[in-house]
Amino acid sequence: MPATLPKTKSKTDCPQTNFSQNSKALDSFAPHILDWFADNGRHDLPWQQHKTDNPNPYIVWLSEVMLQQTQVTTVIPYFQRFISSFPTVQDLANADWEMVAEHWAGLGYYARARNLHKGAKQLVEIINKTGNFPQTVDDWENISGVGRSTAGAIVAMGLHGYGVICDGNVKRVLTRWAGIDGDITKSATNKQLWALAERLTPAGQSGEFAQAMMDMGATLCTRNKPACLLCPLQNDCIAHQQGCETAYPVKAKKQPKPSKYSHVLLLSNPQGQMLWLQRPESGIWGGLWSLPLHFLKKESVQKTQGKKVLATANDDKTYEAEFTVAEQIIDAYLEKHLNKNLNKSLSDITTHKQPFDKDTIKHTLTHFHWYLMPITITLDETQTDELSKQLAKADIVFIWCDDSHAKSLGLPKAMLKVLATL
Ligand code: ADE
Ligand code: SF4
Repeated sequence: MPATLPKTKSKTDCPQTNFSQNSKALDSFAPHILDWFADNGRHDLPWQQHKTDNPNPYIVWLSEVMLQQTQVTTVIPYFQRFISSFPTVQDLANADWEMVAEHWAGLGYYARARNLHKGAKQLVEIINKTGNFPQTVDDWENISGVGRSTAGAIVAMGLHGYGVICDGNVKRVLTRWAGIDGDITKSATNKQLWALAERLTPAGQSGEFAQAMMDMGATLCTRNKPACLLCPLQNDCIAHQQGCETAYPVKAKKQPKPSKYSHVLLLSNPQGQMLWLQRPESGIWGGLWSLPLHFLKKESVQKTQGKKVLATANDDKTYEAEFTVAEQIIDAYLEKHLNKNLNKSLSDITTHKQPFDKDTIKHTLTHFHWYLMPITITLDETQTDELSKQLAKADIVFIWCDDSHAKSLGLPKAMLKVLATL
């Protein structure tokens, strides 16, 4: 590289290099990071098994699923609660879904919790049949919620077998070190990265290597500010030689997230208890408890004087997909008996927040931003009874309860945000 290159460069200034490391660099990769790990890695994470001769695959499986999209510091207290309530995979498999959901509440990505519970049942079935946990990467990949990298991590760290990992952190380290500039959302680039990860993983120490790679990615080779001067790979890291560390990994730009808008109904009975619904298994927050929601259709979003005007709202598909039977019953009831049409007349509804102003709750999920506008409606005794009867008749799972009871059900984060506004 010419010495005159500026220190910080944009992706387009960076040379398009193909993955090119010689065998000396390839062979010294593992020794370098294992040495670094011994002195500088994290050795006290509660799920680590590298110091024991009898690793527990349950612990590694559980922690890896929790760590799939969540940071270590967030996961630790959740992990500890899981292990103390469900010390074995049999305990988890036998637990009610409600108990599992309660333990998971706040970690987000609820499909992971459902997969975890389902996975526990699959594991118990295998253990009952074979006397042991699955032993190979392929067999672990058949467990719900376990992908190729998680399966590699479990075999390497939870069974002390040979397993290869190639998750987001590893991909960042490898694309930088080897100067791989293909789009990592493309399967050809992924193939190349997996081949490289396999080439680099040492046969006898794949568990420590996996943990070392995770620690490298989390503490040194970070997304925005890699600490190259402390890095054991700096001498042959291509991105570092180029001065282009943060130009890797190359990733196609994501489409901006769409927005959805909904009312959250704070329906109270005369005792001040609110109506809570258990959501259906499919859709947002499957199986969790939530206040009734009312997603807004395009035509129902109105301009509010002097306030932010919404140009778009949910399309009809969203509206229909998320509109549960319970919510349809509630909507119809409110319209018929209280003359509140949630689609058409935002302005005549008692709101304690103005529609979509700065106080509206914004909550971001994987695929969309969600704007939630709380609406308070108080029902009298007769209305409470009538609505309850209609819900019960349709086999809806619901309760009327106060906030503290509701919180004990294990609520999604957005619901806690709503309660915090009261
Ligand atoms: N991220 C995923 N798995 C991890 C682990 N075992 N330790 C730290 N961070 C991780
Ligand atoms: Fe990452 Fe820098 Fe190390 Fe390269 S030298 S692997 S960019 S921390």
